Amino acid sequence: MGKTITEKILDDHLVEGELTPGEEIGIDIDQVLTQDTTGTMVWLQFEALDLDEVQTELAAQYCDHQTYQFDFKNTDDHRFLRSAAGTYGAYFSRPGNGICHQVHKENFAAPGKTLLGSDSHTPTPGGLGQLAIGAGGLDIAVAMGGGPYYVEMPEVVNVHLTGELPEWATAKDVALHLLGELTVKGGVGKIFEYTGPGAEKLTIPERTTITNLGTELGATSSIFGTDEKTKDWLARQDREEEFVELSPDEDAEYAETIEVDLDELEPLVAAPSMPDNVAPVSEYEGTDVEQVIVGSCTNGAYEDILPAAKMLEGREVAKQTEMIVAPGSKQASEMLAREGWTAEMMAAGVNFSEATCGACIGIGHVPASDSVSLRTFNRNFEGRSGIEDDSVFLCSPEVATAAAITGEIVDPRDLADELGDLEAPGLEMGTKYGPGMGKDDSDIISPDEAIDDGLVKGPNIGDVPLKDGIDVDGGEALLKMEDNITTDHIIPATADILKFRSNIEKLSEFTLSRVDDTFAQRALDADGGVLVAGENYGQGSSREHAALCPMYLGIEAVFAQSFARIHKANLFNFGIVPLAIDAETYEKIDQGDDIEIVDDVPAGVNSGETEFTARVNDDWEFTAELDASEREREILASGGKLSWVKQQHDGG
Ligand code: F3S
Repeated sequence: MGKTITEKILDDHLVEGELTPGEEIGIDIDQVLTQDTTGTMVWLQFEALDLDEVQTELAAQYCDHQTYQFDFKNTDDHRFLRSAAGTYGAYFSRPGNGICHQVHKENFAAPGKTLLGSDSHTPTPGGLGQLAIGAGGLDIAVAMGGGPYYVEMPEVVNVHLTGELPEWATAKDVALHLLGELTVKGGVGKIFEYTGPGAEKLTIPERTTITNLGTELGATSSIFGTDEKTKDWLARQDREEEFVELSPDEDAEYAETIEVDLDELEPLVAAPSMPDNVAPVSEYEGTDVEQVIVGSCTNGAYEDILPAAKMLEGREVAKQTEMIVAPGSKQASEMLAREGWTAEMMAAGVNFSEATCGACIGIGHVPASDSVSLRTFNRNFEGRSGIEDDSVFLCSPEVATAAAITGEIVDPRDLADELGDLEAPGLEMGTKYGPGMGKDDSDIISPDEAIDDGLVKGPNIGDVPLKDGIDVDGGEALLKMEDNITTDHIIPATADILKFRSNIEKLSEFTLSRVDDTFAQRALDADGGVLVAGENYGQGSSREHAALCPMYLGIEAVFAQSFARIHKANLFNFGIVPLAIDAETYEKIDQGDDIEIVDDVPAGVNSGETEFTARVNDDWEFTAELDASEREREILASGGKLSWVKQQHDGG
């Protein structure tokens, strides 16, 4: 039987298991990436594993989420990360050099290789034919130590693209269209493989916008095959020799095929406050817009910003609107500047930001209260922009720029009709550069150029909390939450909180504060307890702090109707038992109920038990399910992955 692209790459990297959907497989990892908010914990965990050197072909540490060095804590973190990269043999990308996914794509992503990253948008270089997966930091530390990465073999879904994008419809609209159709849960347990004549027409930046947004579908990864466009793009980055041909066999079998006719697409937005709240732009026409931001890991490439620059040539940003451009990488900034586009945009009234995640997680450019912000980002979860009652729309750079010009949401096709001389920008490569494309890796320190001698830890860098075994018998339902609770709800990533990412004792004070600000103190007073949630608990980022901090507060188990993939793995990694409950049970449980798990959980975890009986207020009972592989059970029984790996090492 023929193979899909995914199966071909996995076959080449398989060290355990079989490629049967739903079965756990272990795969070899070629490259890892980590960023500043997750990276400090990755390296502290790597240190705790007593390993000397990174074992993967390549490891890269980026500083992108919190690059503004407000006080010594962020700067200390960056210095620690640089020292860890140097000590253990990883590349270090300095703060300001750009967002991990853009910079990794430019410098290291390679077709046919596996990439594991401690950031949920790690699948971005799938547009170049790399099989890239987001995971928790501890999984990255273990992979860097040479250990396989374990994941449930996903179903491979064929997204068959036909036709060609019409004027003013973009790759962002392809992704938004899928989100509207499939929802934020539509990709769970799946890898999306983009094929067909429509896929061949898309440029590499367009493909990576789509693979980036696959994360919002909940997908394990997203990937395109490779072709002349891939080869050409790699050549422009001086990396032509890394090209390999990748396509599915003609008789490859997919779990499902989704047809998308690109000809049918139109400009779309994701309205507040979920990426799947998708509608045609025309539905919101006339809405006042106070802020527009073009950039991020989704639309921060040179080719994403160029359309905005072209649309603004000879025009001005509306007086009632602020427009910010935040390129995804310093290379993109530099190319725009060298070609004069930065000056054009500045003259039009654009405010330029350094290449950083920043505004995407509420660090800088927080919208005014009760105002609309249009962003080319990938997430618009409530409060993520830095203000609780935000109103963030996601869209393409073209739609964002049209709004900047008019001060209100407008379909760019209507604006073009009205203005008469506004042409659809199209996507040209930078003509001045030809091969080489203006590649800039001056802010990347290679392992050979390392400048630190050993780890440099400032006072804000704490220890990794370790747990020895599990002792789970239930407790008070300290919090009952709704569907789609994100890791932003569990541990917010705003600047005032993020600076404690290397100090778990302090950071845990903010656990679930966006849901209930008394939670952390109540958990400490009660000496731990359990959490109750609806569907898709823990969606969003790969942030392992969202499991680490609850563990620190003594949370033993989470009862949820379903769990997001990376967060569920993080719960195992930190010794918290993820137990699935049905809708009826969820409805019946109240916050404050006493939930006693009647069965012996440690014994059941060891013996492969899948069902556990719990008793509520000594009154009624329900059954919760544990869906865990043998390895996940061992990890739970050890109290978490760090203890498990250490035990394996100690035991020889
Ligand atoms: Fe950064 Fe936002 Fe992407 S935080 S990695 S720009 S999703």
